[in-house]
Amino acid sequence: MTSRFAFTRRAAIALGGALMLAGGPALAQETVKIGLILPMTGPFASTGRQIEAAAKLYIAEKGATVAGKKVELIVKDDTGTPDVTRRIAQELLVNDKVSFLAGFGLTPLAFAVAPLATQSKTPMIVMAAATSSITEQSPFIVRTSFTLPQVTIGIADWAAKNGVKKAMTLVSDYGPGIDAEKAFKDRLTAAGGEVTGEVRIPLRNPDFAPFLQRVSDAKPDALFVFVPSGVGSQFMKQFVERGLDKSGVRLIATGDVTDDDIVDSMGDVALGTITTHHYSANHNSPENKAFVAAFTKAANVRPNFMAVGGWDGMHLIYEALKKTNGATDGTALVEAMKGMSWTSPRGPISIDAKTRDIVQNVYVRKIEKVDGQLYNVEFSTFEAVPDPVKAGK
Ligand code: PHB
Repeated sequence: MTSRFAFTRRAAIALGGALMLAGGPALAQETVKIGLILPMTGPFASTGRQIEAAAKLYIAEKGATVAGKKVELIVKDDTGTPDVTRRIAQELLVNDKVSFLAGFGLTPLAFAVAPLATQSKTPMIVMAAATSSITEQSPFIVRTSFTLPQVTIGIADWAAKNGVKKAMTLVSDYGPGIDAEKAFKDRLTAAGGEVTGEVRIPLRNPDFAPFLQRVSDAKPDALFVFVPSGVGSQFMKQFVERGLDKSGVRLIATGDVTDDDIVDSMGDVALGTITTHHYSANHNSPENKAFVAAFTKAANVRPNFMAVGGWDGMHLIYEALKKTNGATDGTALVEAMKGMSWTSPRGPISIDAKTRDIVQNVYVRKIEKVDGQLYNVEFSTFEAVPDPVKAGK
């Protein structure tokens, strides 16, 4: 008996090996691989940490099997450097044979990989980067983060309605900053306001001081700011050092500047700052309360909007696989994603079938103290906002 069993087992192993070598469909398709490329080190490491934790939490909560396939997440650190992102994407496609590329912590990193997604017909889920034109770089890109114009027009509307006639703008000098600068100016101008000064600051090693001196001298009604997630503390520190918090110039921004990872460490000087964005850890819904509790337990920090982009990106992948019954044809998966809608921790969201971009609520928020900690507390909502740039085309 023993020897027969041993023979059977050996035979099964040999057969399995032969099928694997031949790329036999039965065994090769048991696992669906997701290549998650993120800045895990360097100045944007907080984005990587947040998205990785959310993706792992999603798998832990929903299970590592979907539509009969085992899900394998392969996380790679691109350090926030486009050449590295491209090389990693190539390796994931060729060596690991991933069915999805995901992550993309900054706009240039998404641009670097878009041609590879097109060539290999692989769905590319943008969980972080937020320049409007990213989704136009490949028909295989689907986005679960946001766009800067989408979250900026709300703060321009709020400013116009709240006595801001003259504003200055300060943005990081690359795709999302330029998008934010234009959206803010167009919208405020249309409402009868005026942008009296525009400054772009380098993305890396920014020094805000010289510009803040100009703002202090010019005394506009408001200063509108966009800097990417992780940089906001540095900005706020220099804003206060220049005495601008006491100058009567109102600080308004997109929620990138006051993201949940850093807002509490900004201190009481940040109290009262008005921003617009699509996610706050303080969002009042049962889905978000469950998400924040589970994320905080797993990662020991508050989730920020990057985490939500990662969580919903995983949801999109899982639901698309359910729709294709586990088939991994890239074109079929992207088709399955188009028009999908669900309730995210951030509120109701959907994927626009035409643009493959996200449609979502944008909230107006004020920094307040809740149970002794600073939060972006939502007080009004623009519902189901598409990317206004593509909606206008
Ligand atoms: C981007 O590079 O597209 C980006 C990164 C971080 C943000 C917003 C946009 O907070």
